[in-house]
Amino acid sequence: MGCAEGGCGACTVMLSRLKGDHHYSVNACLAPLCSLHLVAVTTVEGIGSVAQTLHPVQERIAKAHGSQCGFCTPGIVMSMYALLRNKATPTMDDLDDAFQGNLCRCTGYRPILEGYRTFTKVGTPALTVVCCLLRQDGGCCGGGASGNGCCRTNGTATPLFDAKDFVPFDPTQEVIFPPELMVKTDRSQSLCFHGDRTVWLQPNSLEELLSLKWKHPEARVVVGNTEVGIEVKFKNMVYPVILSPAFIPELNTIKHTEQGIIFGASCSLSLMEAELRRAVDSLPLHQTQVFLAVLEQLRWFAGRQIRNVAAVGGNIMTASPISDLNPVFMAAGVKLTLMDKDGSRLVQMDSRFFTGYRRTALRPQEVLVSLEIPYSKKVRQTQFMSAFKQSPRREDDISIVTAAMSVTFSPDTSLVEELKLSYGGMAPTTVLAERTAKELIGRPWGEELLQAACSSLAEEMTLDPSAPGGMVTYRRTLTLSLFYKFYLTVLLKLRDQVWEVPQGQHLDDVVGRPIMHLSALKQATGEAVYCDDIPLYENELYLALVTSTKAHAHILSIDTSLAVSMPGVVCCLFSEDVPGSNSTGPIVYDESVLADGQVTCVGHIIGAVVADTQSHAQRAAKAVKIQYEELPTVVTIQEAIAAQSFYEPIRTLQKGDLEAGFEQADHILEGDMHMGGQEHFYLETNVTLAVPKEDGEMELFVSTQSASKTQSLVAKALGVASNRILVRVKRMGGGFGGKESRTTILSTVVAMAANKLKRPVRCMLDRDEDMLVTGGRHPFYAKYKVGFLDNGQVVALDVSYYSNTGNSMDLSLSVMERALFHMENSYSVANIRGRGFLCRTNLPSNTAFRGFGGPQGMIVAESWVTDVAQRLGRPAEEIRRLNLYKEGDRTPYNQVLDQFTLDRCWDECLRRSDYKQRRAAAHLYNRQNRWTKRGLAVVPTKFGISFTAVFLNQAGALVHIYTDGSVLVTHGGTEMGQGLHTKMVQVASRVLGVPISKIHISETSTNTVPNTSPTAASASSDLNGAAVHNACQVLVERLQPYRSANPKGCWEDWVKAAYFDRVNLSANGFYRTPDLGYDFNSNCGRVFDYYSYGVACSEVEVDCLTGAHKNLRTTVVMDVGHSLNPAIDIGQVEGAFMQGLGLFTLEELHYSPKGVLLTRGPGSYKIPAFGDIPSHLTVSLLRDAPNAKAIFNSKAVGEPPLFLASSVFFAIKDAVSAARSEVGLSGPFRLDSPASAERIRNACTDRFSQLICSVFSPSFTPGPSDHSGSFKLVLNCSVLTLTLVLVLS
Ligand SMILES: Cc1cc2nc3c(=O)[nH]c(=O)nc-3n(C[C@H](O)[C@H](O)[C@H](O)COP(=O)(O)OP(=O)(O)OC[C@H]3O[C@@H](n4cnc5c(N)ncnc54)[C@H](O)[C@@H]3O)c2cc1C
Ligand code: FES
Ligand code: FES
Repeated sequence: MGCAEGGCGACTVMLSRLKGDHHYSVNACLAPLCSLHLVAVTTVEGIGSVAQTLHPVQERIAKAHGSQCGFCTPGIVMSMYALLRNKATPTMDDLDDAFQGNLCRCTGYRPILEGYRTFTKVGTPALTVVCCLLRQDGGCCGGGASGNGCCRTNGTATPLFDAKDFVPFDPTQEVIFPPELMVKTDRSQSLCFHGDRTVWLQPNSLEELLSLKWKHPEARVVVGNTEVGIEVKFKNMVYPVILSPAFIPELNTIKHTEQGIIFGASCSLSLMEAELRRAVDSLPLHQTQVFLAVLEQLRWFAGRQIRNVAAVGGNIMTASPISDLNPVFMAAGVKLTLMDKDGSRLVQMDSRFFTGYRRTALRPQEVLVSLEIPYSKKVRQTQFMSAFKQSPRREDDISIVTAAMSVTFSPDTSLVEELKLSYGGMAPTTVLAERTAKELIGRPWGEELLQAACSSLAEEMTLDPSAPGGMVTYRRTLTLSLFYKFYLTVLLKLRDQVWEVPQGQHLDDVVGRPIMHLSALKQATGEAVYCDDIPLYENELYLALVTSTKAHAHILSIDTSLAVSMPGVVCCLFSEDVPGSNSTGPIVYDESVLADGQVTCVGHIIGAVVADTQSHAQRAAKAVKIQYEELPTVVTIQEAIAAQSFYEPIRTLQKGDLEAGFEQADHILEGDMHMGGQEHFYLETNVTLAVPKEDGEMELFVSTQSASKTQSLVAKALGVASNRILVRVKRMGGGFGGKESRTTILSTVVAMAANKLKRPVRCMLDRDEDMLVTGGRHPFYAKYKVGFLDNGQVVALDVSYYSNTGNSMDLSLSVMERALFHMENSYSVANIRGRGFLCRTNLPSNTAFRGFGGPQGMIVAESWVTDVAQRLGRPAEEIRRLNLYKEGDRTPYNQVLDQFTLDRCWDECLRRSDYKQRRAAAHLYNRQNRWTKRGLAVVPTKFGISFTAVFLNQAGALVHIYTDGSVLVTHGGTEMGQGLHTKMVQVASRVLGVPISKIHISETSTNTVPNTSPTAASASSDLNGAAVHNACQVLVERLQPYRSANPKGCWEDWVKAAYFDRVNLSANGFYRTPDLGYDFNSNCGRVFDYYSYGVACSEVEVDCLTGAHKNLRTTVVMDVGHSLNPAIDIGQVEGAFMQGLGLFTLEELHYSPKGVLLTRGPGSYKIPAFGDIPSHLTVSLLRDAPNAKAIFNSKAVGEPPLFLASSVFFAIKDAVSAARSEVGLSGPFRLDSPASAERIRNACTDRFSQLICSVFSPSFTPGPSDHSGSFKLVLNCSVLTLTLVLVLS
């Protein structure tokens, strides 16, 4: 399970019903088994397999490199498969629609779309960028070169994949609807399923439904289960009686009437969407204004899988204040038919329908039977209607504010006859702004009406400063901004007043070739085995964690009496049960395996319950009662600074003479910024299976980047030697640093339980638990002072970084050190000082995350560079280029930059992106458009490669050759989707001179290669590749005599000859990076072996009224040396870029002031989805940039490109500057990361935000919040900007 809440799509399966041969994708995690009566379920395993025949959908995603860790792949395959079952030649728009509900954290989405584009009319993608690797002058000429000059014709081009290799798709060969289900003719019988705690009743007539509802007024009517499923799973609701109306015709039919269209309440949103679309296509435009508004809202409503099952009635009856459809229905005056056993009544959806938070006028014995969506007004009156949704992520996200507005004009005038303005997200229910509407009746649609509307809305649509959901200023500003959008739309339409509108090396050498990820096919068919796929052991038990609900407290008592009496429970474990040492931690042992007397964060692991099944264990864990005595908490960086709550040491990195530098400067600027944290959101959550063996031995299957660290910490906790603990890692469903050290907090507890009970024990964390207990990327706050000359040259910098470290050190010191090593990013600053403070707070310990402090260090650098440019009134790109390092320069830690390619990347990026023309076009666009602005930014990165802890820069490998010539490679790195094993096989293949088909990597294990470093720091290909090379070289030398003796023989002949000659055909290899060792005190010694460089240019368009933005275009040029595998490397660049895009523009962790994480799943925490890819994203790898320091002249690629996504952040800042200049604001301003819609909107000061500011009271105390978090308020009304800053955590 990726999330168990319908938010990631990893569990997508296809359902088919006989009626109308209808196929549709759904989220298996929310589909109740009882709802599948007479429904055929097709899973990824059911459409093809590696062993037999692959389905083209499986083959194409794999061969197009669209599967990295593979955990999302089955879900994406099934979304595509369901689409093809309904439409054999879809359009690209169909693909966009089908994938709205699928997330991938690894690929950056492009390769998936490229692979599946081959099913569409658009067809095979053009030849890809790999040819550019082989050319000097900037890539493929597209066939224009004379003679044999073009790489496409002279055979040097290697496509990332070749669609000609694909098996053709034949839609007639699909599996038919199961005959067993076809013959079941009696479809109308009533059904009853009895469960442990719930009875599921499926009546066969409306009459029966109504009489059941009369009998059980408390019963839930469940259709899609997308609301009720979440309540049961996450809010611990128990519904003893469930009524399913799946068989009731009245609730499932669609009827056209004189007034509009009637939809049965159980009609799915997809069904309603299709019917409205048909009506819009066939009816006159004036009649379908309401339908268009509903369709507009549905476009942004959840993903396709949810819309396929969620009922329109379910959305109304949930009565959520942030429902997307209810404002539209309310503004449209939709009529509802409600019924109980005694009769029916017709109710209009108006301000009386919603009676309170999630309450409606429906009586307990009633059900909603249908709703009628009206045609818009016709004949001489004119009605216009629009719907709006503003959410953190454009697609598949819950809204911050939704609105629908409808205006009807008196015949042949622009005088308002009727106006309905309805809003969601502004009160405990959907509301109508009735006072404002009344005030505007009779007025002409013009500037005066606008002013009156805004003043009135500002007073009517108020929110308490401590309102649940926070973002109070932003939400209030949105009510005005959205009205203004409506105003402009209507104005345009009135003006037109149109009633009807029409609509080079040897082919055998695989190094440098885009070899497909070796597990991709298995991942696409569902055959790839992840940790939790390991079949149940006999006697196996399941473990659930007991975690703290307080951020800082003494534990007064633990009461397990109820828990142990529950079904299936075997035992509870607490700190006194740890047989070895209870202290743990990856570097310093400042944590406990199980809390001992005190807890220091919400989610702190206190104990565990072991039971026979997952649900029994989880239910019992919730029944453990703990009493606390609360202690003062420190949650935010600001609170830590105020309390001077820091870990030691406070690191300082300094070069040059700071004082002299500032004296020399013509200008000195001070600024600060905050960068939020980030959740890893690997699709596979943490999981461990521990199997006890004899003599204290224990075998652990773990999804971890650190097999050896897991081994040593489990041994420590169990009080046994490391040689008794075997840790095995087959593959991970993503890691991104989150499984470098924090995995051990689960593994040690599971191992303890297995050790105590002498039975296998398993635990896979639920998504919300995983997010709660494991920590993520460190949030940073930085204050800086920068001195610069009139020409823009920076001569002095003093910067202090504060990271929110959490309740233990974990890897935080190294993270901070990397931030300091990247504090100047790519700019030469002669006099510089950086200081790093580790804030000790009561949050779960933050940890490694792709980039490991580098992005935090660098974004601050880009912030002061931008400030300098803004102060001087010059384009930021000029200041960046001016200060860019040159070959031979020294970094602040005195490392000389040699083989410096950043300037080449810069020039290439500007050229490829047409920077100058685009800048000029953006200027022109901004002059012509007041409410949307375009911005551009070019951002470089220089990322140091090596672990900064010197001892970790080592790796081992073990290579066996068997007598049949097959080769088994093992090395110290783990596979988490980054293609490490594929690259290692390529290395072995080149050195041994055998095809990759003869080489296999089975797993990573501590009994084959010991003492491994974590797979991290982007260095695993370098380190392990060199170790594999070393081992293979030894074997090549051993085989050489047999090659020489039989030059015409083959590999198998030489291997056999060597074997019979008693030659050792197994060798281990080892590598340590030479000449490393830096000392902070003397500021001497080499920190990094080399650097990876890259530059990105991004262009965005900002909607100044809502704060939404579009990523128009990004051009990336990356130096990865001589790529070992361009397909994998481009995948890494794109994946890292998209993760960075999430970090800098989208992903926000919300905590309550008491340190409770409120964003615990894809419903509330948004990672980039398919729709967030820049409209044009091109990635090029720099040519002719061999790197002598790494295996086969390659370079590390996992982390470096992530920071390039900050080009989008700074392009947004550029666009916001353009908006601010419209109201006369110029010069530096603060924009924190992520650049969320709220921050962007608040930074784009205008008359609407000023109006809100003028009526807003600045003092409040955050109150308790429900779903969306609490906020701290920073008010700065003097410059007419209001910034609501999320708790700095
Ligand atoms: C991942 C995800 C994304 C979502 N995205 C959005 C979104 O973008 N916008 C949005 O507005 N919502 C969203 N939702 C919420 C949810 O999908 C909708 O509210 C949906 O329409 C509920 O329909 P359902 O059939 O699944 O409801 P169910 O869960 O089956 O039922 C919901 C409630 O309605 C009641 N009910 C259903 N039918 C009747 C009836 N005929 N008479 C009386 N009571 C009835 C049930 O008793 C229950 O209380 C999302 C949910 C998930 C899980
Ligand atoms: S959508 Fe089902 S597991 Fe995420
Ligand atoms: S390949 Fe998509 S989540 Fe890893």
